[in-house]
Amino acid sequence: MKDLETELMADGKLILGIESSCDETAAAVVRAGREVLSNVIYSQIDLHTVYGGVVPEIASRKHIEKINQVIKKALSDAKVSLHDIDCIAVTYGPGLVGALLVGVAEAKAISLASGIPLVGVHHIEGHICANYLEHPDLEPPFVCLVASGGHSHLVHVKGYGEYEIIARTRDDAAGEAFDKVARAIGLGYPGGPKIDAAAKSGDPDSIVFPLGKVAGSPLDFSFSGLKSAVLNYLNGCRMKGEEINVNNVAASFQKAVVTVLTEHTVGAASQLGAGTVALAGGVASNTALRESIRNECEKKGMRFFVPSPVYCTDNAAMIAAAGYYEFAAGHRSGYDLNAVPGLEIGSRAGLIC
Ligand code: KG4
Ligand code: ZN
Repeated sequence: MKDLETELMADGKLILGIESSCDETAAAVVRAGREVLSNVIYSQIDLHTVYGGVVPEIASRKHIEKINQVIKKALSDAKVSLHDIDCIAVTYGPGLVGALLVGVAEAKAISLASGIPLVGVHHIEGHICANYLEHPDLEPPFVCLVASGGHSHLVHVKGYGEYEIIARTRDDAAGEAFDKVARAIGLGYPGGPKIDAAAKSGDPDSIVFPLGKVAGSPLDFSFSGLKSAVLNYLNGCRMKGEEINVNNVAASFQKAVVTVLTEHTVGAASQLGAGTVALAGGVASNTALRESIRNECEKKGMRFFVPSPVYCTDNAAMIAAAGYYEFAAGHRSGYDLNAVPGLEIGSRAGLIC
């Protein structure tokens, strides 16, 4: 594997990544899957905050308005032109269909006009590959917890572009639970960073919330029971006329999520005999989660990797990194590449292999 890695780095191929699956319009230029030359993100969060969540049509309209400017800036920040780009990598699923279509159509148009090869990338595989951007010594195999607004998966990364799902959520994603609980306690959207901040001034042991367990599938996740327990607690307080301590609710809820994610992730790595654990997705920027998994890995003598927060939430550098390894493996997408909103991890539906 080391030789393959050295050989791949030496080729210096430049990938233009494009990401538009949700509410970030993003483009980046990455060399050989590892070195970020530029990373431009136009976040629409302010536009959606007033509605308490992402409004798909607003997201698509904003992507179409911003995408050319974002790509132009990514090329100029990297001090390259389209002529220097070896491959265009674009997210084609999963995500909001109208939002995905903007990035896919843009990437196809650039590829058609320039002749640069096109590679479709799975958004969650992109999140996993964010770990390669800052950790030159990270190589598969490893176990990765992917926790975002739409997904909570434990993935065994067996090789570059080789993924096996070990566990998944049976209901809500971890980020979704953060967003719903934040709304219920009046912190607003997006909930994750707000709960993270509020929890720092709260007592995580003040309220005992249940840890979601799935009977018969000890590594799977379930967050809807926890979310309901928080809502019941809030209703109970209101009915009894008791004051709600938002910081304590945030800290206690966060502790429950972090406990489950840590136990399952480190437990899966132990079961598989994996010596390396990584985190990915928006929830991976949670300070308590990063600390908890880092500590457990240290105790067990496992290596631990997590991207910087800017590469945990949606960005295009991670898409370029994932696209690079597909490109290096000889995979390409055709001009019939389409958005696949429910694309499964490990699916090669949009690639000609
Ligand atoms: O990966 P991402 O940017 O988009 C998706 O692919 O879904 O993840 C967004 C999710 C949101 O639910 C957001 O609340 C959550 O990640 N998030 C966090 C934090 N920062 C973002 N959750 C917990 N703590 C954070 N610091
Ligand atoms: Zn994402």
